[in-house]
Amino acid sequence: MNVLDGKVAIVTGGNSGIGFATVQAMTRAGATVAVADIQSRIREELDSEHTFYCQTDISKAEDVKQLMEQVHKRCGKIDILVNNAGVAFLGDSDTFPDAQWYKTIDVNLSGAFLCSKYVVPYMKQNGGGSIVNLSSVMGHVGAPRQVAYNASKSGILALTRCFAVEFAANNIRVNAVCPGFVETPMVLGSGEEQLNYLKGLHPMGRLAKPEEIANSILFLASDYSSFTTGAALMVDGGYTAQ
Ligand SMILES: NC(=O)c1ccc[n+]([C@@H]2O[C@H](COP(=O)([O-])OP(=O)(O)OC[C@H]3O[C@@H](n4cnc5c(N)ncnc54)[C@H](O)[C@@H]3O)[C@@H](O)[C@H]2O)c1
Repeated sequence: MNVLDGKVAIVTGGNSGIGFATVQAMTRAGATVAVADIQSRIREELDSEHTFYCQTDISKAEDVKQLMEQVHKRCGKIDILVNNAGVAFLGDSDTFPDAQWYKTIDVNLSGAFLCSKYVVPYMKQNGGGSIVNLSSVMGHVGAPRQVAYNASKSGILALTRCFAVEFAANNIRVNAVCPGFVETPMVLGSGEEQLNYLKGLHPMGRLAKPEEIANSILFLASDYSSFTTGAALMVDGGYTAQ
């Protein structure tokens, strides 16, 4: 038996990077997965038998409500939510564009809040569920030129703990994954010099592969982590152990 047999999952930002690897890992583990992404259509490589697409801007409450309704109508329940969609802008804090600050908070933090808020009633109705939020090592440390991103990822840790405590009695577990730097489009466009610098920040001397983060998400989404809630799992090649 596969660890997610019969489960219904939603992965936001499932069209790229960590989200894409997570959708693949979850379908291999037996789940049906709704890919919720702002892009106009689903990536062709995704297994069409066990995935379906819901174009969604997670920063818009109406879109998120529709997403939950659509998945519930189609599948009859929602077991797992992965709040993965995110954006990142770099810039000095004292000149950081206001619009980029609001965009980062709207997508990374408010988007995760809205998806969690609107999925909880369906999970309660279903007798429980598991929510996995994408934080980052950047939610734990300061870094230059990343003020909005790091603030959003720290906020995700607070969101995780609050939802975990509030809905533990409803058998809804809520956890965060905190990756180090990962080989995804968000990072790979940085240029060779920057990539070598980023690798050097990790004692393991390399970046993570998206599949390595997806495996940790799978663990937190599944019953293998049945007594884990409110946790922040570091998946960072030793970055924050230094
Ligand atoms: N890549 C890293 O090094 C790294 C490290 C730590 C944490 N993370 C976090 O992991 C998550 C995924 O990162 P990634 O590197 O795979 O990113 P990515 O840029 O490869 O993919 C992000 C996905 O989110 C979607 N998206 C963006 N805005 C959206 C919106 N408003 N509504 C719905 N979908 C939207 C994009 O279309 C894209 O498919 C993010 O939350 C990111 O902050 C990434």
